[in-house]
Amino acid sequence: MVMTEASRKTPLVQEASYQLRHNKLQKWVAEAAELCQPDKIHWCDGSDDEYKRLCDQMVESGTFIRLSQKKRPDSFLARSAPSDVARVEDRTFVCTKEKMDCGPNNNWMEPETAKIILKDFFKNSMKGRTMYVVPFSMGPLGSPLSVIGVEITDSPYVAVSMKHMTRMGKPVIDLLGEDGDFVPCFHSVGHPLSVGEADEPWPCDAEHKYICHFPETKEIWSYGSGYGGNALLGKKCLALRIASTIGKKEGWLAEHMLILGVESPAGEKTYVAAAFPSACGKTNFAMLIPPKALNGWKVTTVGDDIAWIRPGKDGKLHAINPEAGYFGVAPGTSAKTNPNALKSLESNCIFTNVALTPDGDVWWEGLTDKPPAELTDWQGRKWTPDCGRKAAHPNSRFTVSSTQCPSLDPEWDNPAGVPISAFVFGGRRATAIPLVFEAFNWSFGVYMAATLGSETTAAAAGKVGEVRRDPMAMLPFCGYHMGDYFAHWLHMGHKVANPPQIFCVNWFRTDEDGKIMWPGFGENMRVLKWMSDRVHGRAGAVQTGLGWMPRYEDIDWTGLDSLTKKEFEELMNVDTTMWRQELDSHGELFEKLKERLPRELVLTRELLNLGFSQKFFDSQEASKRVLVDESAVH
Ligand code: GTP
Ligand code: SPV
Ligand code: MN
Repeated sequence: MVMTEASRKTPLVQEASYQLRHNKLQKWVAEAAELCQPDKIHWCDGSDDEYKRLCDQMVESGTFIRLSQKKRPDSFLARSAPSDVARVEDRTFVCTKEKMDCGPNNNWMEPETAKIILKDFFKNSMKGRTMYVVPFSMGPLGSPLSVIGVEITDSPYVAVSMKHMTRMGKPVIDLLGEDGDFVPCFHSVGHPLSVGEADEPWPCDAEHKYICHFPETKEIWSYGSGYGGNALLGKKCLALRIASTIGKKEGWLAEHMLILGVESPAGEKTYVAAAFPSACGKTNFAMLIPPKALNGWKVTTVGDDIAWIRPGKDGKLHAINPEAGYFGVAPGTSAKTNPNALKSLESNCIFTNVALTPDGDVWWEGLTDKPPAELTDWQGRKWTPDCGRKAAHPNSRFTVSSTQCPSLDPEWDNPAGVPISAFVFGGRRATAIPLVFEAFNWSFGVYMAATLGSETTAAAAGKVGEVRRDPMAMLPFCGYHMGDYFAHWLHMGHKVANPPQIFCVNWFRTDEDGKIMWPGFGENMRVLKWMSDRVHGRAGAVQTGLGWMPRYEDIDWTGLDSLTKKEFEELMNVDTTMWRQELDSHGELFEKLKERLPRELVLTRELLNLGFSQKFFDSQEASKRVLVDESAVH
């Protein structure tokens, strides 16, 4: 159907394979078109045909490189602009009327001012391009728990990525009907062209980027970047920043968490949700394959990045994965570390900023032990193993539908979600944080999650490897004041009869040579098994100042000879001096949030301080003594 739009002098072509019946949506699209001046408007229907057509067009325009049909069927490589490779946290804003409401954890702009500034950038920004209207559902189609969004974008890369990552297209338009609610998500890669000029393969505005959220009116405006979390607005912008503010009001949680199912040999199923900061292991943990020696244990994947969590009638918290695909970190993904991811990527996927092999396949650091003799790197330059550069960008990614994942949980699409028995929090920490411990109770667990620290990674622009506090792995994603967020967390646990048990893990502790000590990946099953057994009341632990910790003999080591008891104790060691520094750093975080910080957390910190100053962990020896003290078994 071709329609014209009245308010323009030259009629604007609108392509839509369905009837447009939603006045408010049409009006919003018309206004955006008036401002951005695209050449035409395409309403996405989400069909395979449309996907194929857009991909072909991007191959034609140079945005996509078609990979070998034999090696990597129906798959594509996109190379971003060299400056547009990650989320831009310093250009991400939460626009609330009162500055205090967005909290010190967010950059703030006054909503009306932000819109005036952004309108100027959006003006004529789509000249020479097509405006895509992308209707999508976060959460199962039609579920009362789902939230519908519509993204306007001038990036066909975004449009096709949204087909993998969300339930996208005509079924969403049908659900919206004539007046259904939706979150308007307004996106342009920016960088206006003079008319007639061909677009660049990856257009973006190298100098100006704004990722703006308006939680009070539930809107998102994103300008200047085409990358991941900056541009696929259903993901971090809607499903975390906006959803977290909705959840605060309505009594649920939107979290940066994977969801997995763990099945015991006896067929007992336990669901676990785990929050690790960006590029700290969620996708890998969600797709874990247990070591062969742990016969009969199985892990299934519900989600790898985001969880929406609500109290259920059974007194438990229930979680859904609002997404429908994975936008996963490529480097480090291999047949050894994450075979399920590799199998998911065999066909029908999009790679961004990985290297290209001479025979039309992809490669990244860690995919194989030995790199190919020659590659084209992520920027299109010739690459050899001795050239001193990385072949793939450290934040290079794959985009694929979750239905291609061999470990997909049968309940992944269940609108009611899955009951969560344990929450796990973990960061990337070379020192201080033990391999695993279990919090004493809900409040104590919330304290540990709220003070989570992690080294920064390539997932966000900026310095890599610096320890920062990243509460619940949500520092960049909580759409409101972190102090209010902590209060909401405390409240959620007290609201249900059986809140999940809370665990903390650290896969990334290093030895004196800087080598990661814990084998990680599939071997994380040993820790997961202990946590699952704790949930069911059948695994031992000792009480320490930090919480319940497994002794060496509490963990199933069957088939793992490479880790000695001594090494385990090093991984579990709690260094008093370092923990005093940790507590100081918790104090600095609390100082920043003090005007809205729940007193419960302040008191918990005092208790911990007291424990350490009373020489609870007086020396390394003492902590070891506590660890092996039989009489303290729970
Ligand atoms: P986002 O998509 O950014 O939210 O990241 P994520 O939390 O899903 O992280 P992901 O699982 O993609 O892992 C990021 C990096 O950490 C990859 O290079 C992995 O290979 C590596 N990694 C994941 N799990 C482990 C582990 O158990 N041990 C070690 N040493 N590295 C790991
Ligand atoms: C993250 O950075 O946590 C990601 C990738 O999962 S992005 O979609 O860019 O947010
Ligand atoms: Mn993430």
